Amino acid sequence: MLKDMPPIGFGLWKIAPEDCEATVLEAIRAGYRHFDSAADYGNEVEVGRGIAAAIAQGLATREELWITSKLWNTFHAPEHVALACQKSLDDLGLDYLDLFMIHFPIALEYVPIEERYPPEWLHDPAAAEPVMKPARVPLHETWGAMEKLVDGGQVRRIGVCNYNTALIHDLMRYCRIAPAELQVESHPYLVQPGLMRLARDYGIHVTAFSPLGSLSYVEIGMAGSGDTVLTEPVVVAAANAHAKTPAQIVLRWGIQRGNAVIPKSTNPGRMRENLAVTGFSLSDAEMAAIDALDQGRRFNDPGVFCEGAFGTFHPIYD
Ligand code: A2P
Repeated sequence: MLKDMPPIGFGLWKIAPEDCEATVLEAIRAGYRHFDSAADYGNEVEVGRGIAAAIAQGLATREELWITSKLWNTFHAPEHVALACQKSLDDLGLDYLDLFMIHFPIALEYVPIEERYPPEWLHDPAAAEPVMKPARVPLHETWGAMEKLVDGGQVRRIGVCNYNTALIHDLMRYCRIAPAELQVESHPYLVQPGLMRLARDYGIHVTAFSPLGSLSYVEIGMAGSGDTVLTEPVVVAAANAHAKTPAQIVLRWGIQRGNAVIPKSTNPGRMRENLAVTGFSLSDAEMAAIDALDQGRRFNDPGVFCEGAFGTFHPIYD
């Protein structure tokens, strides 16, 4: 039987490669068993070293760990999917992934691994006027190649990230192997009740990224320090009522909705704090009050950041 995804995972986006091995080792020591990696994060070699060190120290076995990685946009053509998966496996030092996901529903022109890795968004960053180059690859072809990875045993499950409801309906019409997981941004300012309900109706489990809201985006100028959900009175009231921190309340709200959450912290104290969100429950009234903070506020939107950073307007959400 396939193991279940641990509901609290450890997010690896933006963890500097030089900090990654020690951070992953410390996270496994703290009790994390689920790691959310991606080729695009540019740190899979170091993540793999942290995993290997933890296994060598007897802190966990490979089977006790859940490792997710993601297919980058430039590898959507069916002939490149297995290649990209193998690169992530090699970098992570693993012989299978628990979950492999399409990172964005955005196909970009192929960049050979030997040329540049991770390839990121721009086709030729050294050009006088670098551009994003869309590739003519339909998502159903990419999914077909993802299914073959399950057949071949390189990955146990496959899923999608950053899909909207229409793309999920479409995927459910053509898939041979159904997506096990949908990973999307979700926090109290972006509750996405319809998307969550649809995923549940199709039997697709959801992972919420950026579960604490704006925090990850302040340092990269995509949110202001005043955008935090952690000072919302209903969050603070629940924190006081349960003798927990506001971050623990927001993460508890996430898992109590039935989602997995993947907070990240390089601080050993906050790492442990974020894991300690079981053993208490929010009341229906507290859940509803946090649900009501929804503003439809998305911090991670290619329609915004691709235009700002790469001069290409490429929205995927309406
Ligand atoms: P740090 O690494 O210094 O702890 P997200 O997981 O939603 O993307 O947020 C990650 C950001 O939130 C990081 O800047 C991290 O900083 C910070 N963070 C993580 N956990 C907590 C927490 N429990 N309380 C406050 N800030 C946190």
